[in-house]
Amino acid sequence: MSSSDAEVGEVILSAAQIAEGVRKLAAQINRDYAGREVVLVGVLTGAAVFLSDLMRQLTVPVQVDFIAVSSYENATVSSGRVRVLKDLTCEVAGRDVLVVEDIVDTGRSLQAILELVRQRGAASVKTVCLLSKPSRREVDVTPDYCAFEIPDKFVVGYGLDYAQKYRNLPYIAALVTQGRD
Ligand code: IMP
Ligand code: MG
Repeated sequence: MSSSDAEVGEVILSAAQIAEGVRKLAAQINRDYAGREVVLVGVLTGAAVFLSDLMRQLTVPVQVDFIAVSSYENATVSSGRVRVLKDLTCEVAGRDVLVVEDIVDTGRSLQAILELVRQRGAASVKTVCLLSKPSRREVDVTPDYCAFEIPDKFVVGYGLDYAQKYRNLPYIAALVTQGRD
């Protein structure tokens, strides 16, 4: 399917609803991490928009780093391992790490990133996601902080893409694929 076969459909979350969700997450994180410094690990590219909004609402000291992973094409690997395309720049040993994801779908990428951060000796690792599709989960991973649970629909906007498009939309909408629904 080429990107011309798809278009933006129903708005699932408005910019105002997203802002409110992000504000609530930040309040929880500020409370839970009071007195500590957090290393935010943004998962590229989708989480870039969410992370930049979230971090500006955090009052605890933060350091920011990014990681990029890709799932293997033939997902016959049940361990949920992913390929690291861009590794972290900072040392996470002994640090309190908060992995920032746009959306948790099967949970495989988040599980693999958590494993990697733990292996490197982080003092603690938690996860925050804007969206989660619990009905799609294939591995046992539950985000510690999550703003919205959504049904099994492919969504775009606010950092999320379809074929690298639509990341710039300020809201989150369902993708409509022609001749498929
Ligand atoms: P997982 O490893 O299956 O949980 O995949 C998570 C990644 O898949 C997310 O970080 C997104 O990049 C991508 N993804 C999953 N669902 C969607 C969606 O509805 N829209 C856009 N990207 C998605
Ligand atoms: Mg992603």
